[in-house]
Amino acid sequence: MKNFKRHLITCALPYANGPVHIGHLAGVYVPADIYVRYLRLKAEDVMWVCGSDEHGVPITLKAKAEGVTPQQIVDKYHEIIKKSFADFGIGFDTYSRTSAKIHHETASEFFKKLYDNNDFVVKTNEQLYDAEANQFLADRYVTGTCPHCHNEGAYGDQCEKCGTSLSAMDLINPKSAITGNVPVLKETKHWYLPLDKYSDFLEKWILEDHKEWKSNVYGQCKSWIKDIGLEARAVTRDLDWGVPVPIEGTEGKVLYVWFDAPIGYISATKEFTPNWEKYWKDPETRLIHFIGKDNIVFHCIIFPAMLKAEGTYNLPDNVPANEFLNLEGDKISTSRNWAVWLHEYLVEFPGKQDVLRYCLTANAPETKDNDFTWKDFQARNNNELVAILGNFVNRTLVLTHKYYKGIVPEVSELKQEDKEILAQIAGMKDRVESSLENFRFREALKEAMSLARLGNKYLADTEPWQVVKTDEERVKEIMYVALQITANLAGLIEPFLPFTADNLLAFLNIEKYSWDLIGKPDLLAAGHQINKASLLFEKIEDSVVDAQVEKLLATKKSNEMANSKAEPQKENINFDDFTKMDIRLGTILEAEKVPKTKKLLKLLIDTGIDKRTVVSGIAEFYQPENIVGKQVTMLVNLAPRNIKGIESQGMILMAQNADGELSFIEPEKAFRNGAVIS
Ligand code: 2FM
Ligand code: ZN
Repeated sequence: MKNFKRHLITCALPYANGPVHIGHLAGVYVPADIYVRYLRLKAEDVMWVCGSDEHGVPITLKAKAEGVTPQQIVDKYHEIIKKSFADFGIGFDTYSRTSAKIHHETASEFFKKLYDNNDFVVKTNEQLYDAEANQFLADRYVTGTCPHCHNEGAYGDQCEKCGTSLSAMDLINPKSAITGNVPVLKETKHWYLPLDKYSDFLEKWILEDHKEWKSNVYGQCKSWIKDIGLEARAVTRDLDWGVPVPIEGTEGKVLYVWFDAPIGYISATKEFTPNWEKYWKDPETRLIHFIGKDNIVFHCIIFPAMLKAEGTYNLPDNVPANEFLNLEGDKISTSRNWAVWLHEYLVEFPGKQDVLRYCLTANAPETKDNDFTWKDFQARNNNELVAILGNFVNRTLVLTHKYYKGIVPEVSELKQEDKEILAQIAGMKDRVESSLENFRFREALKEAMSLARLGNKYLADTEPWQVVKTDEERVKEIMYVALQITANLAGLIEPFLPFTADNLLAFLNIEKYSWDLIGKPDLLAAGHQINKASLLFEKIEDSVVDAQVEKLLATKKSNEMANSKAEPQKENINFDDFTKMDIRLGTILEAEKVPKTKKLLKLLIDTGIDKRTVVSGIAEFYQPENIVGKQVTMLVNLAPRNIKGIESQGMILMAQNADGELSFIEPEKAFRNGAVIS
């Protein structure tokens, strides 16, 4: 690999139409944070930029749904996202936003330069239009059936089921997402970037010169360039939210969000430093885009074609895209609220940033989609962070205080076996480094944790708590070695577990190590005083993760309720049919389970006419002791039936939801028993 002088790292700009969730974190921000922390430990010159993506249809749709303006939506979510990243330890140099003036200016200039160079093709053609909403229907403003996989909920820019990138006109049976109307066709004029002209350049630049890219990224690029083929893509839209097209006579047109958003990386850098050009234009800067797999075509094909056309910018040297993280077996979705939201996690698990960072890295969707489960979260915390890392550090620090009042013991020549143990650290560091350089973060974390495993095994093998009874000099050597391992751990885990590393450094009473010091067998000098320590991690109980699973189940239930359609109406009846039914209010006087059944309760009801027995299939939803005294609605003239040997003299009326759950129908006011319902 070429030697670069500095690094410009970008992370996909999250849409400001909702908070950040664990899928975003695992796919993009946690790996980038690990990488940047590693570069900073190496004292490299790094610029890390990100910001909110505040244009595009996802924002306007959300604004419409909430009855507010798009600006109110982006203001709200920009703040939530920015704060949650900061609280999670994601340390961008700058977190900007695409509604900023500097971004509008930068994106307009960029477009204008390509326009002046005649890099665009202008086309006037028919597009989908919602006559009622007075709106062209591009991107997510239109849904329909995917022509490839026949998913009925595909969007005008992409089918989320099969991942194909679409244009609105490809959809079968298109429907407006605004009114639900079937769109009509209407002519409109737009500017297109002729990607076909860049096909040869892209083929050489990616397929020949960047064979080292991750196979998922390289494979997608190859399929775009060789199989699907590159065509001209419209870079303008008929919308009123976005960067206005900077050409005379184009009112009502804005830049396509995927044209302006990646320019957001440039404007964020520009906003942050007057020296921004050295990060973007000096060929000795290495540009790396961290993204999710749905962004590959935009960062590897379209944005590079834009940069190539503009001519003065660097192209990315690597685009380490991850696959997707699912949640408890289901695709994460902002609109379905199927997610673990970062801002909620931070409130519900205070001080546990590193537990989530650890799980998301250990389980990162690097080569294939992966699943996050709360049970795995608990197991990784209890069996790895607590039992391996926390346990080793705690034993070492507690024994150092117990034997030496917290002072690193003086030792003469170490035994050969001790030297061999310490010599392993440098090899581990090299392997962590090599994995990080290749964007294999799971592997890197595993290797860093192997140092804690080594420490645990060393203590278990040498048993200083036994040896202390017979050989105090040997114990000094053992503790000296354990302390060197601990100090190295503080350095090696920093990119992955920065909060823990900070705690550990404070316990050890030392400053952060630079990367080149890590791996040394004598990081802590004899005579150095360490501080009092507490536990690095605590066990997570079943009840804590069970509560999270319950929360998800409640979401699932409410989604099902919201999506379930009412059953079709039954055949009409006449009024006489209705009046044959005698429906009254009654009060439950007694309730008990019908033995050997799961669903049945035997109820004694005061109907106002008499007191009678009714057998009702509600035992799964109501406890007998909770319903005595309740006033209910009852069909009193249903012919008696024998149920499990009990004569049931009527029927309690219940409402049923999509899941089959039953609910009493209670009167709004407590009328006398026997009151007629008509
Ligand atoms: O997929 C997304 O969430 C987009 N908002 C990412 C944009 S990345 C960049 F180009 F700005
Ligand atoms: Zn599809």
